[in-house]
Amino acid sequence: MPRNIITPSIQYIHNLYAQPDELLVSISSELEKRNIAIQVGAEEGRMLQILIALHGAKKIVEIGTLAGYSTIWMARALPEDGHIYTINKDPEHVKMAEGFFILSECSKKITQLTGDAHKILPDLVEKAPFDMVFIDADKISYPAYLDWAENNIRKGGLIIADNTLLAGMVAEDRPPDGIPPARWKGMRLFNERLADKNKYNATIIPTKEGLSVAIKMF
Ligand code: SAH
Ligand code: DHB
Ligand code: MG
Repeated sequence: MPRNIITPSIQYIHNLYAQPDELLVSISSELEKRNIAIQVGAEEGRMLQILIALHGAKKIVEIGTLAGYSTIWMARALPEDGHIYTINKDPEHVKMAEGFFILSECSKKITQLTGDAHKILPDLVEKAPFDMVFIDADKISYPAYLDWAENNIRKGGLIIADNTLLAGMVAEDRPPDGIPPARWKGMRLFNERLADKNKYNATIIPTKEGLSVAIKMF
């Protein structure tokens, strides 16, 4: 479901709080042109910035870079000595993101790691513990990414994940038509794990796609 269809209320938030600058606008245009505009909305970019500021997060892992739209929103919220490691699989996306990072003023806060997250994440363990993980890659792997986050973010750290409502489909009692059942089941499992009050202080911010926010309590 395209993110660029926005309601008047979202437009109002954009105008007041979440105006993308020229660079972010050019990323969105490039993604539109390529028909892969699945980046977060500007209001979600702004939300990520607020969460980073509230939390004082300095060391972040992002799983799923696309063209670096969310990465640049997040990097801009980091302090000078903050860093974001962002994992990107598709070589075309890697090239695109690299180009935009170079154009940004925050490229020294960003390291793009190229390849499948399942292969890259074990290498990142040596840089753990992290303050925050933002999960936004292949939906079926969310439970596996949560396994990694549980082991590699600090106690009190933040786990944020996009698309956890599957545009509303996750709320159906059974996998609806038009979605692979394994993807639906994986997301249900992911959400149920974060709902464990003994482990997490969590909720889903009800954006159209759903943005999970969880504080790891252990
Ligand atoms: N976070 C981005 C959007 C990410 S879209 C933004 O909001 O701007 C999902 C991205 O995850 C795509 O670039 C896709 O290539 C990547 N991806 C999908 N599966 C992956 C995997 N297993 N490992 C690493 N990256 C993956
Ligand atoms: C898709 C992926 C996303 O991360 C997103 O925000 C929207 C759609 C997708 O793979 O279709
Ligand atoms: Mg997403």
